[in-house]
Amino acid sequence: MSNYHIKHLEEYLQVYRKSINHPEKFWEELAEENFVWRKKWDSVLEWDFEKPDVKWFQGAKLNITENCIDRHLLTRGEKTALLFEPNDPNEPAEHITYNQLSVRVNQFANVLKSKGIQKGDRVCVYLPMIPELSIAVLACARIGAIHSVVFAGFSSTALATRINDADCKMVITSDGAYRGNKTIDLKGIVDEGLEKCTTVDSVLVVKRIHSEIQMKSGRDFWVQPLLDKAATVCPIEIMDAEDPLFILYTSGSTGMPKGMVHTTAGYMVYTAYTFKNAFQYKENDVYWCTADIGWITGHSYIVYGPLANGATSVIFEGVPSYPDFGRFWEVVQKHKVNQFYTAPTAIRALAKYGTDFVDRYDLSSLKVLGSVGEPINEEAWHWYNDNVGKKKSPIIDTWWQTETGGMMITPIPYITPTKPTYATLPFIGIQPCLMDENGNELKGGQAEGRLCIKFPWPSIARTIWGNHQRYKETYFSAYKNNYFTGDGALRDEVGYYRITGRVDDVVIVSGHNLGTAPIEDAINEHPKVVESAIVGFPHDIKGSALYGYVILKDTGQERDPDNLRKEINQIITEHIGPIAKLDKIQFTEGLPKTRSGKIMRRILRKIAANEMESIGDISTLLNPEVVESIIENRL
Ligand code: WTA
Repeated sequence: MSNYHIKHLEEYLQVYRKSINHPEKFWEELAEENFVWRKKWDSVLEWDFEKPDVKWFQGAKLNITENCIDRHLLTRGEKTALLFEPNDPNEPAEHITYNQLSVRVNQFANVLKSKGIQKGDRVCVYLPMIPELSIAVLACARIGAIHSVVFAGFSSTALATRINDADCKMVITSDGAYRGNKTIDLKGIVDEGLEKCTTVDSVLVVKRIHSEIQMKSGRDFWVQPLLDKAATVCPIEIMDAEDPLFILYTSGSTGMPKGMVHTTAGYMVYTAYTFKNAFQYKENDVYWCTADIGWITGHSYIVYGPLANGATSVIFEGVPSYPDFGRFWEVVQKHKVNQFYTAPTAIRALAKYGTDFVDRYDLSSLKVLGSVGEPINEEAWHWYNDNVGKKKSPIIDTWWQTETGGMMITPIPYITPTKPTYATLPFIGIQPCLMDENGNELKGGQAEGRLCIKFPWPSIARTIWGNHQRYKETYFSAYKNNYFTGDGALRDEVGYYRITGRVDDVVIVSGHNLGTAPIEDAINEHPKVVESAIVGFPHDIKGSALYGYVILKDTGQERDPDNLRKEINQIITEHIGPIAKLDKIQFTEGLPKTRSGKIMRRILRKIAANEMESIGDISTLLNPEVVESIIENRL
């Protein structure tokens, strides 16, 4: 029996049990029946969370683009694969069929080859949300090059760090990007970044905004003339199941971002399977995920998961506020979107403008509403449910991470009864557990603790690029034989999970993970700054925002604190990007420290959140007096 499409609750329960009791048999059958393999695996799963080492479908041979494109051509060749909705609502949408996608990916792959890119080479993709972003990603996968997509909102320094960490040979970018009523000079950012890189031989440039840009002779190439000359067939590179498919960077609690490495077969199987079920995708549905392909949500649920299912996936170049706050709903109406997947921060931002913008459009096509990236608060949940879904479209609150590759805890719509703010039940094959601070598992029903996963699933990241030790320390050291998520969670009496938020020094601002350490490193470079500490605090729209406590040289003599705040945010923008700017910057003479010199962030978090009553005992601090003064000068 095929378990690929779960249709009712009993089936979910039964398949879930099977996936836990006989994981190898379960995944083997699922993989065998639903994908194209050039050679079957020798073993389904080998794993050791101690080392850590996880291998799925070892020995199998395949190419993910054969599964995402070629196999659909016979039956779905004229079906829209990518539906491109441009930034400007007056520019026509573009329907790219599977046949057309095939030609464009094959040509792009041939261009990569003509520039010397081979299997295993790393290619950095720094593009706006235009079809070429998906096409470039798939072209890399077709020839076995490892793509490293960098979100096009990152600064030149952040880009250079990522290019250097992965020793990328090529960068694919565009002359610029549209963003609402603004344009962004992407090529200029790439040029600046590449001054700090030595491994990049070539830069392919997509023409998007037709701006005047500098082209460095011998390094930079307009991609269109190369595509025009390229053959429309590029044979697939036959990949091993465990060959890396891509690297995607995520913030950590130290300065260097972590290049999470995802491999081919397991990632394909799991993203395809979760996509089909979590969205209950049916053949002629139009699916839209508003995330950027620069994040994992876009990789798994704009590109690979939907295309592996032969779906129609919308690519939206714009922003929710342009030309007005009805833009999302206008697009839903225009393309009769059936499944809509977005982040709570977008919902909250739109809810602020009331229901006029929503009510203007016909949203009756919607069947499933998704949420991802951060906890969805009760108010936002109800607003989404009442005004967008008209209480008819179930909300799937999907919890997962860059590291997990695919959704881990999520309702299955029309099957799992939903509960506001709860991600509800684990997906098929996922074994979550809660731990107390001493590393003991909290058994039984209701509990609150740190969220871990006991058993491997096919799309778990295999390592951190170039730093396996850090992978082990970050995810497999806190709780023996368990993958530690970095999140806290609670479980209710029926076994539903609610994610309460990060328990480490990562803050989620508008759905973007930001490690506080890299931001501190950036601002400490300001000549007037001695030391700083950054914490998150609750924010109505962003979910969390950043609060910085900064110690200055020559305290008290700062004549223009607002200007200094601007300079500090400017440094952050240059090092990381505007998403990491601080909402509040408090200048202080000291930071609360333990006797061993560690900053007590817990206290700073309480002060930033205005929860002074629960600061607790400070008498063991090295400098308790400093707390008083910070509270007094709180912003
Ligand atoms: C948070 C995004 C609550 C969580 C796919 C996680 C969530 C981090 C949810 C990963 C959710 C994601 N409810 N929190 N539904 N989804 N998170 O790597 O803290 O960008 O660890 O992956 O976002 O963010 P990332």
